[in-house]
Amino acid sequence: MSNTLAGRDLVSIKDLNKEEILRVLEQAARLEEQCQRQPKLNLLNGRILAALFYEPSTRTRLSFESAMHRLGGDVLSAASAAKTTSAAKGETLADATRVISGYAHIVVQRHPQIGSAKEAAEGATVPVINAGDGSNEHPTQALLDLYTIRKERGQIDGLNVVMVGDLLYGRTVHSLSQAFAHWDVTLTLVSPPALRLASPIVDDLKQKIALEETEDLATAMKTCDVLYVTRIQRERFSDPADYEKVKDSYVITRQLVESTNPDMTIMHPLPRVNEIATDVDSLPGAAYFRQADNGVWARMALMALILDAAE
Ligand code: CP
Repeated sequence: MSNTLAGRDLVSIKDLNKEEILRVLEQAARLEEQCQRQPKLNLLNGRILAALFYEPSTRTRLSFESAMHRLGGDVLSAASAAKTTSAAKGETLADATRVISGYAHIVVQRHPQIGSAKEAAEGATVPVINAGDGSNEHPTQALLDLYTIRKERGQIDGLNVVMVGDLLYGRTVHSLSQAFAHWDVTLTLVSPPALRLASPIVDDLKQKIALEETEDLATAMKTCDVLYVTRIQRERFSDPADYEKVKDSYVITRQLVESTNPDMTIMHPLPRVNEIATDVDSLPGAAYFRQADNGVWARMALMALILDAAE
């Protein structure tokens, strides 16, 4: 089977069809298994990743870097890139990635502006991966989320998924919900009215999957297989008073999980603030730290496929 991901950018999860997503997930499973026996592989020997992060990150940047190291490649890393690169002098993203294409074989970029990944990809002459463009999308998070769901639940088809929290600004929700359109998933969206998922995405999803919107979390939890919790993102609100009104809208406690549905799988892209109480962490279904671990395998798979080095 030819590798249709070779040489491609990943700006939006919609850039990938179902077969391509499945190929990433299957490659991730192979690489995870290989790395249990051999911690460092040689698939990307001599290849260089440039990691440009204009916004804070723990998981995405470090798991991309870990992934490249485990594949045998090297990493150029610009954390705090807004201050530490010539962006501070006014260089455009397109010019920056055009130049960095001379130094690296693949670029991963996070930036606070919607559309910034597209701009970077247009300037670059090497593949660009979107690691989050403002409140728009985070497609590699969706890949690791799907990988986690398959590992935790065995399959994606037939699941009842509840997404709760900041669905308006949550880029992980935007990418994952649109990925669900490829499967037979029933999706329930739980949010305060001010943070509902934008209607163009909702309307599009309603054409493809069963979807319901509600503010009643406890009822939705009773029948869910996967609970996908997100943080209310203080940094996306222009008026702090608006954040204060909604910040404690939904808090998942151990008592709430045990009284509604102890068999559910609980996910969160992290970081969390207070939306999942720490006493939930020891429940068997609390998958969010395993989910973060899976970022390495999903990102290894994606880079190996884009650089056409997957076995
Ligand atoms: N999930 C996620 O994107 O985490 P970071 O912001 O730490 O990269």
